[in-house]
Amino acid sequence: TRVLVIGGGQNAEHEVSLASAAAVAAALRMGDHEVTSATIDREGVWRADGIPTGVSAAESLALALPLLARTDVVFPAVHGALGEDGALAALCGLAGVRVVGSGLRAGAIGMDKWTTKLVAEAVGLGTARGRLVAAEDIGDVEFEGEVVVKPVSAGSSHGVSLVSEEGGLLAALREAARFDRRILVEEVVRAREIDVAVLREKGGIRWAAPPLEIHATGLFDTATKYDGSARFTVPAQLDAAEVAALKRAAIAVFDALGCDGVARMDFFLTDRGPLLNEVNTMPGLTAASQVPRMFAAAGVTYVDLVARLVRAAS
Ligand code: DAL
Ligand code: MG
Repeated sequence: TRVLVIGGGQNAEHEVSLASAAAVAAALRMGDHEVTSATIDREGVWRADGIPTGVSAAESLALALPLLARTDVVFPAVHGALGEDGALAALCGLAGVRVVGSGLRAGAIGMDKWTTKLVAEAVGLGTARGRLVAAEDIGDVEFEGEVVVKPVSAGSSHGVSLVSEEGGLLAALREAARFDRRILVEEVVRAREIDVAVLREKGGIRWAAPPLEIHATGLFDTATKYDGSARFTVPAQLDAAEVAALKRAAIAVFDALGCDGVARMDFFLTDRGPLLNEVNTMPGLTAASQVPRMFAAAGVTYVDLVARLVRAAS
């Protein structure tokens, strides 16, 4: 199978996407795949063999289209806006090329933390209490107590702040507004943080891997995510009823959004059961990321996982 792996991208998660794409390409090369790599730089310029440097984003995309035409499957390992949000899946759809992971609809909804919350609640799942604030209105917002402020659409915790003292709110809202003009202000949930990954195999059967627990001191923020200090336990120590509730919740979200490939649902485990924090339709895929670790706990190696994703591409 000829696979085009795309990494990088035009958002704050650029570096993580390069790492995910490099890991995916290396693993696919170990299997029965003919791998070509392309990178989208921060300005939107595609870089690959055959694309000269110094061209504009539009010219480079025009030169990249023949690469799409010469491949069987595209693996868009691009987190965040103009990638994970469905943009690359849409491009592949327009070009008639099979693509790994969620399509435009699930990607766009999953990238939107507010809409995801509404969908989760509609299918009976809990989420943290929260409010949507337009960037235009941040001067008028007042909140009591501790809150988490986040851009509705961003990833890897960019623009996210924990506000615990009066006076910190405006700065937090301004920081979030650098990433999105829609901002989510949520109550702080102090509970265990558990991730659940769901894989939809070729043929349509979907299943959840053993849950993983994140041990972060304080906020599991951008620095903690990538400085190597976060510790994970997988499988998380949970009783059978908790595992069942988490898996059921993760599959309910996966189905409600219409996800494909692999998605990682992040939960808080509370007395009220699992509260959905967010969905990642193109989760981090370095060998040290949560998703590969969860599938390893289910006996699926990283090389096998990416091969299954390619087979399931639609
Ligand atoms: N958004 C990052 C890449 C993750 O979900 O792992
Ligand atoms: Mg995310």
